[in-house]
Amino acid sequence: MKKMKAAVIGAGIFGSFHVRALSEMPTVEVTAICDLNRDRAEKLAAEYHVPQVYQSHMEMLHQSGCDFVTIATPDHLHAQVAVDVANAGLPFLVEKPFATTREDIERMREAIAKNRVRAMCDLHNRSSQPYAMAKAIIDSGQMGNVCHMYVRLNDNKSVATDMLSWSSASSVLWFLGSHSLDLLCYLCGSRPKTVYALSRKGVLKSLGVDTVDVYQTSLEFENGVIAQMENGWIVPNGNTAIIDMKCNITCEKGAFNMNTSNSDMLQVLTETHTETPNCIARPVINGRVEGFAPGNIASFVRCLQDGTPFNITVDEAAEVCLAILGILESAEKRQPVDIRY
Ligand SMILES: NC(=O)c1ccc[n+]([C@@H]2O[C@H](COP(=O)([O-])OP(=O)(O)OC[C@H]3O[C@@H](n4cnc5c(N)ncnc54)[C@H](O)[C@@H]3O)[C@@H](O)[C@H]2O)c1
Repeated sequence: MKKMKAAVIGAGIFGSFHVRALSEMPTVEVTAICDLNRDRAEKLAAEYHVPQVYQSHMEMLHQSGCDFVTIATPDHLHAQVAVDVANAGLPFLVEKPFATTREDIERMREAIAKNRVRAMCDLHNRSSQPYAMAKAIIDSGQMGNVCHMYVRLNDNKSVATDMLSWSSASSVLWFLGSHSLDLLCYLCGSRPKTVYALSRKGVLKSLGVDTVDVYQTSLEFENGVIAQMENGWIVPNGNTAIIDMKCNITCEKGAFNMNTSNSDMLQVLTETHTETPNCIARPVINGRVEGFAPGNIASFVRCLQDGTPFNITVDEAAEVCLAILGILESAEKRQPVDIRY
């Protein structure tokens, strides 16, 4: 099979992972990397032997000859790039969240529809082993209907204070809430109708990052399922893993308990501290990056190549963001909000 030519926009933490994951796929060659920071793009291109480097995505779209694009710019900077990629007639994978304002969500949807390009949002928990397996059991009907759900997805403080230079321009709801809300929608097969959120601020502000510490959200879905969702950025940095992620689903005839923080599959103890590295997201095994994170990017490429549907539609990814806008409004007003789709 002829290799597809990939171009990656955004050469930061996750764009670097995109480049690695794509470079290791036998059916793909990464032909171009673009970043506003040319040095960063050049270093990454040198590491993975990528021939073309750009500072402007428009130049890259006109000159690189790529077959598809992946977008890993910061949360609030996906939309213009995605619209330009769609207008260039190229299919793309955009990092989560799809977009962070109603205007951006709509202009992305319009550009995708007008240009008839294929697009997917990298909400990769749909490819995570425990969730995909639970979803298959729920869909088999053996557990009866889903009744209620709980999900918590938190990060250590260092993600907001050190890892993301743009954390206060986004929020924990966009960065983590997009994953956890998508997971709830995926598992119960519906979308939120009404949300009521409370939030708390102070810890991160005292550390110089002006953003909300934590959101607690109650949700009622269109199919009658109710749920509770927690997204915080203030887990102490001494936690053994960077992510704190748990999910419980109660159905009419059974229930699921999922711990995907690290699953305690591997504990690494030294004289000073203990770590529990995540063994399922993107471990390096036999010199290659494996796990559900590259698996989801591989599923995007496979669906592009064989013309099958992606594991998430543009509308589903957009609706997660419209629901997050409702959660933000609810937290601001301290009142329940009906979601406007
Ligand atoms: N960091 C993670 O663990 C992680 C995990 C999953 C998903 N993501 C998602 O990936 C996306 C990127 O996150 P990150 O952590 O890599 O951020 P980052 O800040 O490390 O990298 C973003 C890069 O995009 C570049 N950029 C911004 N606008 C650009 C433009 N118009 N053209 C070209 N380059 C541009 C910046 O210069 C920067 O190098 C976010 O949406 C994030 O939510 C991140």
